[in-house]
Amino acid sequence: MNFSDETIVVQNKVEIVNCLPEIGKQAVVNEIIAGLKDSPKHISPKYFYDETGSRLFEEITKLDEYYPTRTEKAILSSLWDKLALEFDALNIVELGSGDASKIRLLIEQIPKYLLPQITYIPIDISIDALEWAAQELTLEFPEMDIQGFAADFLFDLSMIPKEKKRLFCFLGSTIGNFNPDEARRFLQMLGQEMQSGDFLLLGMDMVKNVDLIEKAYNDAQGVTDQFNKNILHVVNRLVGADFRHEYFDHLAFYNRNKNRIEMHLRARKEMVVHLKATGETIRLNSGETIHTENSHKFTPNDIAKFGQWAGLQTKAVFNDRKGYFSLAYYEKGN
Ligand code: AVJ
Repeated sequence: MNFSDETIVVQNKVEIVNCLPEIGKQAVVNEIIAGLKDSPKHISPKYFYDETGSRLFEEITKLDEYYPTRTEKAILSSLWDKLALEFDALNIVELGSGDASKIRLLIEQIPKYLLPQITYIPIDISIDALEWAAQELTLEFPEMDIQGFAADFLFDLSMIPKEKKRLFCFLGSTIGNFNPDEARRFLQMLGQEMQSGDFLLLGMDMVKNVDLIEKAYNDAQGVTDQFNKNILHVVNRLVGADFRHEYFDHLAFYNRNKNRIEMHLRARKEMVVHLKATGETIRLNSGETIHTENSHKFTPNDIAKFGQWAGLQTKAVFNDRKGYFSLAYYEKGN
């Protein structure tokens, strides 16, 4: 692949390297248009997160109905000692670091004298998010090195430094966005990238009462509704489309066969959408849906299965008291 490999920010203890392929833009246009021509239509959930979408998601995480973030954060807040890491030097690698608000809770518990031996390595598709998070974290933890990579970790993990022992963190139940095939491929790749003695902390939203799950994606204030429809604005910008969000309904329901929340946008009427990027048009029937997200929920069996896929041993599983959310802790053996 053709990497631009340019270092964006260099401060004393902060460095961010851009590993995004330059052909990225055309691939995005192709992917989105292929999804809109498919039957049923779909748009990848990774396109939720423009500036507005990221703000709306942050709002979602604060809603009464949306239990996952606060539950995971509560577990993270008293986790460091339980990880029982013995080390001279450690790299904390976070895949999909976003605003780094979760990892901060873990780093806060590390004894100050250890911070100079630690490098935080955030990996995210958004350079803006990386820069922002690095600024914040270096203010709060000036003793710690930060080396960020802008990359799509679904396809490549080889840029991650290997000299030190590594704690990989994949939090927020982002793995729930992958379908089972993607999850297996991703975990196999991650397991191969890991070296003996490396650890993985994997955040997973667990199967539970269906009402409770469905409410988390159908909040009373309609923030999730806005978040779902915002993806149309992102698509409008990326492929020059003319979707009108007011012609769609937000739909989120639990699929019991697949243990997942599905989010869709349902057309309220028949419509034609124009795509400037290619000069094509897309037709939607009244009631036709665009699938925008799967959010899988997991069982203890999945935790074991993921370890097997990645070739890792399960060291521990950390839960809240109600068992809503799990942080599975794996180790790569010899
Ligand atoms: C960021 C993928 C974990 O699936 O719960 C929140 C995204 N979508 N509300 C989730 C989301 C609708 C979230 N993840």
